[in-house]
Amino acid sequence: SDKKAKEMNRTPVKKVPIHLQSAQSRLFIKGGRIVNDDQSFDADIYIEDGIIKQIGNNLVIPGGARTIEAKGKLVIPGGIDTHTHMQLPFMGTHAVDDFYSGTKAALAGGTTMIIDFVLDQKNVSLLEAYDKWRNWADSKVCCDYALHSCVTWWSPEVAKEMDILCKEKGINSFKMFLAYKDVFMLEDNELYEVFKRCRELGALGMVHAENGHLIAEKSSEMIQHGITGPEAHEMCRPEEVEAEATNRAITLANQANCPLYIVHVMSKSAAKVVTKARRQGKVVFGEPIAASLGTDGTHYWNKCWRHAAGHVMGPPLRPDPTTPGYLMDLLANNDLQVTGTDNCTFNADQKALGKDDFRKIPNGVNGVEDRMSVIWEKGVHTGKMDPCRFVAVTSTNAAKIFNIYPQKGRIAVGSDADIVIWNPNASRTISAKTHHQAVDFNIFEGMTCHGVAEYVMTNGHVVLDEGQVRVTQGMGRFIPLPCNSETVFSRIRERERTNKPCKVDREPYDGPVAKITATQ
Ligand code: URP
Ligand code: ZN
Ligand code: ZN
Ligand code: ZN
Repeated sequence: SDKKAKEMNRTPVKKVPIHLQSAQSRLFIKGGRIVNDDQSFDADIYIEDGIIKQIGNNLVIPGGARTIEAKGKLVIPGGIDTHTHMQLPFMGTHAVDDFYSGTKAALAGGTTMIIDFVLDQKNVSLLEAYDKWRNWADSKVCCDYALHSCVTWWSPEVAKEMDILCKEKGINSFKMFLAYKDVFMLEDNELYEVFKRCRELGALGMVHAENGHLIAEKSSEMIQHGITGPEAHEMCRPEEVEAEATNRAITLANQANCPLYIVHVMSKSAAKVVTKARRQGKVVFGEPIAASLGTDGTHYWNKCWRHAAGHVMGPPLRPDPTTPGYLMDLLANNDLQVTGTDNCTFNADQKALGKDDFRKIPNGVNGVEDRMSVIWEKGVHTGKMDPCRFVAVTSTNAAKIFNIYPQKGRIAVGSDADIVIWNPNASRTISAKTHHQAVDFNIFEGMTCHGVAEYVMTNGHVVLDEGQVRVTQGMGRFIPLPCNSETVFSRIRERERTNKPCKVDREPYDGPVAKITATQ
């Protein structure tokens, strides 16, 4: 049968005796400190069939449960990576981490859910593209996942498909590009139309904020100057180019009364624009990523071509070395709210497509496995944020914005058992030699991080268990994201009522009117 055939393609699973199966569906996490975004407390957790059933001290639990000792450890909601591109077909090749290796690596690092982008060429049906991504992901994901949809062209057909995606397909966010001219980029008038459609549907607008026209011009100038290496990638799209587009996207979204989410905030300048807009009361969210929080753009000037090219992504990392610390300060203080990774990985031979012309280097870096540790190291270990804030920016805020809270993003009775037992006292050193991702390079190579995931549970399955990653292809589920998230839309709906344009009632003008005459 079809189902059999599908099973056959998966990694073979050892048959588990019945008594052990029941032990696996019942878990008891003992002696840890539970950390949610708003409070932390010492309590035990009982899990059955993938759901948190009880939290407390002196719990009375059924027999046959496996006990995991968590004394001295933090018990936190599994991370949610808001921004991945597993196996993305891009720039003539496709990302080397697929939905299997990518989600396996995510789990190894303490991330139990990813939100990936359905991103196809202009003029491709959004529904067809969605089906393609579902087919790729459903058979391979090891953790739960959801999807954003990208709008790379505009027409009445697209408007119709956006409606179907929202009502029937579990999509509540649409990403638009102000970069990648002629490929994914929309013009301002189109972006404004998409924003209005998003607002009608109760969907969140997301923008990749760079000026694609300017980048195209400045890229050719670089080549004319004979600068063909990865450093040119940064020099032709400096941070004011990101800030300009961020400001433009915020302005257009605000004019459409559409809530906006700026993906991959990479620079101080763009972060300042987001911060200022929030202070003005605009409904905008900012997403720095593991890369922008954990490393910087000085690597583009590295003498080793592969090393420099390994950092090429859009918008680029910034040469100002104070950028990561600055973004972390804003994240700690809620000027920025959520973290993703933009995980989109390419091996050395793929990056080498651009060895003589930086414009052909496939854009993208890793992050899905290391995001949690990097943010702990640069955020919590430095004293910038406390563990509650860490949970907020790695999990809870994403669950709230994308409207799956408290199923995800919280340790609470009734929530999914996506749980990480986090050891704040352990440390590990990141390396491509030991990571679980398929890619042959790691932008955080050599970074020692305090804060390590020791056990990871996804839907009540222990998938990181005493150093071993144990997953099965396809064990993750697709999680539909409902529209009209309260966190995103309650202010928008109120503004719809209060900011409705009103006309002035007046007597009609009844004086003389000039005749239009030819001016030449
Ligand atoms: O360089 C990047 N960011 N690659 C992935 C596509 C995108 O723009 O998010
Ligand atoms: Zn992007
Ligand atoms: Zn190197
Ligand atoms: Zn991206």
